[in-house]
Amino acid sequence: MARYYSHRSNLKQVAWLYIRLAPPYIRASRDLRRLESISLSPAFAGFDELLRGLAHIRAFGMEKRYQNSFYAKVDKFQSFDHCYWLVNCWLRWRYDCLGSVIVLLSTLFALWMKVRDGSTAIVIVQAGVFAEASRQLVRVAAQLELDFNSVERVIEYLDIPQEAPAIIEDHRPPAFWPSNSGKLVVENLSVKYAPALPAVLRNLSFSIEPSEKIGVVGRTGSGKSTLAMSLLRIIEPVGGRIIIDGIDISTIGLEDLRKRITIVSQDVSLFSGTLRSNLDPMEEHSPEECTEVMKRCHLDSVIVHKENDRNALLNMPVNQGSLSGGERQLVALSRAILRGTNVIIMDEATSQIDAQLDENIQKTIREELGGAIVITIAHRLKTIIDYDRILVLDDGEIAEFGTPKELLNKDGGVFKEMKTESDSDFSGEDDETHSVIGTLPPLPITFSTSLATTTNVLTSSILYLSTETRNGK
Ligand SMILES: Nc1ncnc2c1ncn2[C@@H]1O[C@H](COP(=O)(O)OP(=O)(O)OP(=O)(O)O)[C@@H](O)[C@H]1O
Ligand SMILES: [Mg+2]
Repeated sequence: MARYYSHRSNLKQVAWLYIRLAPPYIRASRDLRRLESISLSPAFAGFDELLRGLAHIRAFGMEKRYQNSFYAKVDKFQSFDHCYWLVNCWLRWRYDCLGSVIVLLSTLFALWMKVRDGSTAIVIVQAGVFAEASRQLVRVAAQLELDFNSVERVIEYLDIPQEAPAIIEDHRPPAFWPSNSGKLVVENLSVKYAPALPAVLRNLSFSIEPSEKIGVVGRTGSGKSTLAMSLLRIIEPVGGRIIIDGIDISTIGLEDLRKRITIVSQDVSLFSGTLRSNLDPMEEHSPEECTEVMKRCHLDSVIVHKENDRNALLNMPVNQGSLSGGERQLVALSRAILRGTNVIIMDEATSQIDAQLDENIQKTIREELGGAIVITIAHRLKTIIDYDRILVLDDGEIAEFGTPKELLNKDGGVFKEMKTESDSDFSGEDDETHSVIGTLPPLPITFSTSLATTTNVLTSSILYLSTETRNGK
């Protein structure tokens, strides 16, 4: 009986050791796993940067630096990973020892109780299985705790403020909305990017008549793009409302709103596919219509050199990097004209297109979108100078709103000042360039190998050649 009690106390001690070893392992493995995932993200981000900027890295001869920094990130990750597996080995070794003690004690107990051979074998095998299962139990408990970290993150994302619903069944606009006889009215619009930040647009009120073409100008940061985004409810206003063709846009679903209004932004995104799939992703228009719009937007004449066969132009493969900035803007404009909505917003949509082509595009906009409200944000005043009215924003407020003629005749007006500045910038630039060119030394003939000298020589050569050209030599 005494031996039976000694066995029981031995088993208790082993069980206590089992319980004693688990918590430190769980804590250590959880923290190491966390550190591992934290250190893995910079390694991936670094690799991504490396791939994107490979050309620049090679151009500046920085391969070694980037390679070393990538190795450092991988080393850091590996150090945590290595420690994690060491901690696993730590636990395995201890649990294996404890498992052996359990098997030994069970064997001794079976022999002492004089149980039959078959039963002894079962006891020994089951003791081994118990030892392995208890180790797995601790490992799974640690893993479970780690997985709950992910649940924590999912819950965090569930709490993120959501956009308004895509469709509000009770408030769907009619199919013809916005019609070409509807006004766009902005009443006391105030917009903030965050509750703690100051308002970017303050009490803006104006009204746009049906089919009016409005130019929006203002200094950098005056809130032009914010106004465009508010019209699409990309940012929800903190005060005021926008009424398009009689419907307050805050009462309808976002999908209904964004499908009926077109925005052409400065940074045009293209899908990987063909020119056609970019112009008309839903295939709602015929190839003939697409070709016609491309012609009107001068897109075919610009990129025809890439594809000799004009008919094959629609099937020309394109992706984000295969067209120039200006060509991408032309694709976006064609896309906007093809959609044929009655409200179109263009945020610096022709900023990368040359002045002559911009003029032609403006002509096309007037012809093609004659019945639509067009709001064009532009830095180049020439783009919007013949629009119906010009809205001048200054620090989130309306500084002026009127026809270009009215604004240009207004003494001390902001638009008049901007026009004068832009005119003098052009002429000033020219004069300055001439004066610099006039004082330049003749083309040097000795070339130094140092980078600084080479740069100077190249600059001088270019300026020298332009002087010669200007002088008609
Ligand atoms: N995501 C944002 N979070 C916080 N503030 C922002 C954000 N985007 C813009 N702003 C701020 O809002 C103000 C207006 O920005 P907005 O982009 O509308 O100017 P803009 O008139 O379009 O300028 P630009 O002529 O340079 O395009 C700026 O002061 C800007 O710093
Ligand atoms: Mg902007």
